[in-house]
Parts: sequence; C-alpha cells; structure tokens
Amino acid sequence: MSTVAPPPSEVVREVLRGVIDPELGADIVELGMVQRIDVSPTGFVEIVIALTIAGCPLRVQIRNDALRRVESVPGVTEVHISFGELSAAQRSQVMQRARLKASQNAPDTEIGGATRVLAIASGKGGVGKSSVTVNLAAALAARGFVVGVLDADIWGFSVPRMLGMEGRLGGEDGKIAPSEREVGTQGGRLKVVSMGLVVDNEDKAIMWRGLMLAKAVEEFLTKVRWGTLDYLLIDMPPGTGDVQMALGRLLPRAELLIVTTPALAAQKVASRVADMARRSYLRVAGVIENMSYFEDPEGRQHAIFGTGGGDRLAAETNVPLLARLPIAPSVSAGGDSGEPAALMADGPVVEAFAELARRIATDIAPPVVMDGCSARLLTALDAAVAQPQGAA
Ligand SMILES: Nc1ncnc2c1ncn2[C@@H]1O[C@H](COP(=O)(O)OP(=O)(O)OP(=O)(O)O)[C@@H](O)[C@H]1O
Ligand SMILES: [Mg+2]
Repeated sequence: MSTVAPPPSEVVREVLRGVIDPELGADIVELGMVQRIDVSPTGFVEIVIALTIAGCPLRVQIRNDALRRVESVPGVTEVHISFGELSAAQRSQVMQRARLKASQNAPDTEIGGATRVLAIASGKGGVGKSSVTVNLAAALAARGFVVGVLDADIWGFSVPRMLGMEGRLGGEDGKIAPSEREVGTQGGRLKVVSMGLVVDNEDKAIMWRGLMLAKAVEEFLTKVRWGTLDYLLIDMPPGTGDVQMALGRLLPRAELLIVTTPALAAQKVASRVADMARRSYLRVAGVIENMSYFEDPEGRQHAIFGTGGGDRLAAETNVPLLARLPIAPSVSAGGDSGEPAALMADGPVVEAFAELARRIATDIAPPVVMDGCSARLLTALDAAVAQPQGAA
C-alpha cells in the first residue's frame, strides 16, 4: 500500500498523452481514444481505451505502453486496462483528428490551399483507375477548369500515353515544370506529371528503381511548379501500400474516389478500401462504377459484366455512387491514341464523363470559392501583396 495519495484522473490523462497510436501518428488522448479513467482512493486505476477496430493488432503495444507509464505515477498501486471499440461516429472523429494532426506536420507542397485534391483508387487492379482519371480530368478541363494530373503509379505509369503527351519535363531553379495541354474553348487546361515524362526509356527506368515510390510522389508534390490548379487528380497505383500513406501524410485533405466494376465482391473491396482509408487517414468521397454497361447503336444498355457492384460498395462504405460509366471501345482506343474518349464530339461516354464532372464540380467537390470572389483571384491578390516593396 502506497503512502502517497492517489493521483487525480487528470494526471493519469496527461501521462497517457505519451502513448502514441503508431498507425495514426498521434497520442491516444488527443485522438479521443481514452474513454474512461477511474482512480480509487487506494490508488487502483481503471482505464478504458477504445480502439479504431476491436482486433487492432497494436492493442498489445498500446496496452504495454500505457501500463508502463501509468504504473510509474506516484500514488498508483495497480492499473487495469480494458479495451472497447469506437462507434462509427467516434471513429470518424478520431480520423478527423488524425488528419488535422497530419496536416500540421505535413511538409509544404506546391499544391495551393484552393486546389481540390481527388485521388482515384481502387481495391483491385485493372478496374480502370487510369482511364477514369484521364477522362475525368479532361471532362473537368472541358468545363474550363485547370486540372493537374499526378500519375502516382510510378513504375506502371500510363497517363502520358493516355493523354498523348511525350517528351521530357522541363525545369528551372530546382523546380520541375509539368507537361501542359489546353482543352476546349473555356480556358481549361491539363498539367501532367508522370515518371513516364522523367525517364526516357525502360533502361533508365530500371536505374531509377531504387528510388522509393513514396519519395517519388513526394518529389512530384513538392518540387513541381504546379501553379494555380482548380483540381489535382491523382492516379493511384494498384494496392494499398506506401503511396497511399505518403499521400495521407503530404496532402491529408485529399479525398478518395473509389473505382470498381459491377461484378466485384463489394464486401471484399469495401474492407480493402476501409483499410486504405484508415492507414492513410484519407476520406472516401464517393464510388465510381466503371464498365457498367455497353450501349448498342439503338441505345439499349447491356450489363455485360453483371450489375450492382457500385451500389453495393457505395452502401458498404456509406458514400454516394457518383457514376456508372459505359464499356466503350473509345475508352481503350482513346487510351492508346492519346485522345481521351471524354473529349469526343458526343456519345454515351462523353455524356457519362460530362455528368460525372458536373456532379463533382457542383456537389461532391466544388471548386474553392469565397464570397463570390474566386479563390484564384484571392491567390493573385495574395501574391501581389507579398511582392517586395518597389518590385511592382
Ligand atoms: N469503360 C471502359 N470501356 C472499355 N475499356 C475500358 C474501360 N475502362 C477501362 N478500360 C480498359 O481496361 C484496361 C484497364 O484500364 P486501366 O489501365 O485504366 O485500369 P487501372 O485500374 O488503371 O489498371 P492498373 O491497376 O493496372 O493501374 C485498359 O486496357 C483500358 O483501356
Ligand atoms: Mg492504372
């Protein structure tokens, strides 16, 4: 029995601030995971910690760390730790705090605060992420937006071919200039960066292979002179690894658009997507179903690859289904010729991407605008004010 008086629960709480959730990169108090602290008059401390998921493999580490810290507080005679699970609402709050924390620690990128960042990802490879990225980028540019496209599939790059871009990225004073292309008649523009525009052949690519994928994405975000962008679309590599986590760390405001196909088992994809979102702290903004149907010349739709995958995944992940995109030879042909199908004169593909772009621009991720004064003007104003005296 200790002769020292037991500590107030606030002291125990402060000590628990030393326990970091290594996955979320913030302490368990700040994240709101400490749900109860009871200290008895005899110095017996009872703590309830809620985990993001019940079977979290980190629980042993968190438990040992918490025990070690609280046991060493004067006046504590015994510590008992039990675990609970966060509710869905609490979990999303924890994620929000983790995002905030990550954004405070993030290195500076060249992506301005007024740019909407959308990462196109999937729970499975080959579902059309790259095709959706380039066609959505083109459809947004056709509406007059300036759209950055970052090909984060570092070694499996396909964006340059799909957008008909070749040659090497230029650069000056340590910054890289993106490859640019005008779209439509309303001032729209694409600014593209890809490893395919950095290395000139496969042999060179092999030389670069030692470079970490996440590091390459960081270079693209911090060393490219993107200029003013309304949107940045990021074509994610297949899988749920390093690149996703790097993006969460570098641009925690990025939102995920998940591409799926009608036949994929929604639950499996949903759990991978949830895992990806949890590990990268990124929010899922919506689901896009690709290869939904083939429209014959009479306008009849045929669900060649089954139905329902998009709806089910949207329901599982609790986000809206944003589009059902047709299967069309023009999508694959456009990908090979460098002329995105979304920029053709008309047809179901053009309509589908135009509608998706409209939905994103008006509803899901509208461009950042303030009081009727466009954010672009505001940035220009900031730049003017920041000019050193006498330079104007
Ligand atoms: N709506 C569509 N209609 C017809 N073909 C399509 C459609 N979407 C994608 N494809 C074709 O399917 C193939 C895979 O598409 P894509 O490369 O865009 O997928 P991905 O998810 O980026 O693949 P990866 O995981 O390898 O990066 C390509 O040959 C592409 O042309
Ligand atoms: Mg791809």
